Amino acid sequence: FISKYTINLLIIYTLSYSKNQMGNFDHTSCSCTGKGVVLKNAIPGDQLDEVLRRRAEEYRKQQNRTNTNLDVLLVAPSNSPLQYPIHGFTVEPLTKSLIPGLAVHAGTRELYKVFLSVSYGNLLVDGATETDLVVGQGQNALNISTTCVDRLNQLLSQVSYTSTIYRINTRDLANFTFEDHAVTFPIIIKRSSMPVLYDPGTDINTQVTVATKTFLRYKELNVLIESIRKYYKDIKIIIADDSLNPERVNGSNIERYIMPPAQGWFAGRNLAVSQVTTKYFLWVDDDFQFNSETKIESFVEIMEAVPELDIVGGAVNNNQFYFKLVYESGDMEEGGCLSRVFNTTHQALPSYPHCSLVDGVVNFYLARTDSVRRVGFDPVLNRVAHSEFFMDGLGELLVASCGNIKIGHQAQVNHNTYSEYRTQKKTDERRKLAHHFFKNHLKCVEY
Ligand SMILES: *[C@@H]1O[C@H](CO)[C@@H](O)[C@H](O)[C@H]1NC(C)=O
Ligand SMILES: *[C@@H]1O[C@H](CO)[C@@H](O)[C@H](O)[C@H]1NC(C)=O
Ligand SMILES: *[C@@H]1O[C@H](CO)[C@@H](O)[C@H](O)[C@H]1NC(C)=O
Ligand SMILES: *[C@@H]1O[C@H](CO)[C@@H](O)[C@H](O)[C@H]1NC(C)=O
Ligand SMILES: *[C@@H]1O[C@H](CO)[C@@H](O)[C@H](O)[C@H]1NC(C)=O
Repeated sequence: FISKYTINLLIIYTLSYSKNQMGNFDHTSCSCTGKGVVLKNAIPGDQLDEVLRRRAEEYRKQQNRTNTNLDVLLVAPSNSPLQYPIHGFTVEPLTKSLIPGLAVHAGTRELYKVFLSVSYGNLLVDGATETDLVVGQGQNALNISTTCVDRLNQLLSQVSYTSTIYRINTRDLANFTFEDHAVTFPIIIKRSSMPVLYDPGTDINTQVTVATKTFLRYKELNVLIESIRKYYKDIKIIIADDSLNPERVNGSNIERYIMPPAQGWFAGRNLAVSQVTTKYFLWVDDDFQFNSETKIESFVEIMEAVPELDIVGGAVNNNQFYFKLVYESGDMEEGGCLSRVFNTTHQALPSYPHCSLVDGVVNFYLARTDSVRRVGFDPVLNRVAHSEFFMDGLGELLVASCGNIKIGHQAQVNHNTYSEYRTQKKTDERRKLAHHFFKNHLKCVEY
């Protein structure tokens, strides 16, 4: 009967919902090209051993949180008379569910004997009678013996699985054996989550909030606000302000949050975004200026048409800054390698000829509020930091860049105090590299 069951060798990578999908089998060392910065050098020599030890420990725990025991390669054997769910069997934790699709397709035998086993649950055959030979009811290993294949398949169609562990997202592997045929299939144990919806309301003002962060540049900020009001009379503006001496800001429907002085870029962005109540927010820098090409509606239209998108960026003074990140998780001990490649995209965005899918965009973008909150802006980074948000969002945010939605940039004015705070000092640079070494488990980075 073997030829009847000749099935091509199927290689199944069990799907993982985690960031480091390949994390468990990709242990090869990676390298950055000549321009890459080796991050280890940013750690003071006398602290390196201790930092490495702590990093390895945190990495192990992070992998445990995001990878599952199912990140294993399963190869389906050829010529198997066993029928079983290859993929997609998902159960609620601690809840009984019928295992779909279990059957044996075999020629005549005197006795049919199958064996099923799991690691984190119980198996139960409903409707088994005294005459059926079912051993191990309610345990993690079950033997079923019958003299009739139809009865066997009837019983197999009644087998249910109940997880015995409570986890919100993990997997079990079930073994299913008949004679010398053995297969393994995944059972996904997943707590259902509830949707979180934003009521978009009826117009642009109920869909979008404009958010910005300011530091000392009140003249520019007021020009920005005036330009917003010229095109969007009523849209809410949220400003996070960590200036040394907060000044008056003119305008209506403005929510300004005064922060302790010089808290930094990312702290301010987090604060501003935390206060948004609309589905989307439009990020702008405090020295931008709306013009007739600044069409928030165009961003919204794209986001609504492609709901998988999380961020859509535009162009600032015709500069459509965008980049792709190339990441390899690398060796467990050494860490990964990251490089940023400008002016490269992953793919065009179908139906939108001016837009492409990328990993990072300019500081002028429309974002899905809840997606950005999930990634967040790392407040450790307090001066120059832009790509860092997109690094944290890698694999979490679907980002597009569109060259036809534009905003102006006000003429640069020299502010001495501003530059002094804004300019990255050598010690900041080193601190930032040391931060990536630990936080992102990176070995080298190439900007
Ligand atoms: C995670 O750690 C727990 C013990 O704390 C262990 O039982 C489990 O198998 C680990 N999971 C993975 C995927 O390594
Ligand atoms: C399933 O089979 C594999 C390979 O024989 C074995 O390593 C594993 O422990 C088995 N799992 C269960 C739950 O029986
Ligand atoms: C169930 O079947 C397996 C494999 O055929 C065997 O090793 C095990 O002893 C059996 N268990 C019982 C309780 O019959
Ligand atoms: C704010 O408004 C007041 C009163 O209209 C005006 O005197 C002041 O110049 C404005 N400030 C800025 C920075 O535009
Ligand atoms: C990317 O393209 C823009 C516009 O063509 C150009 O000004 C910029 O220098 C390019 N950036 C890099 C890093 O090549």
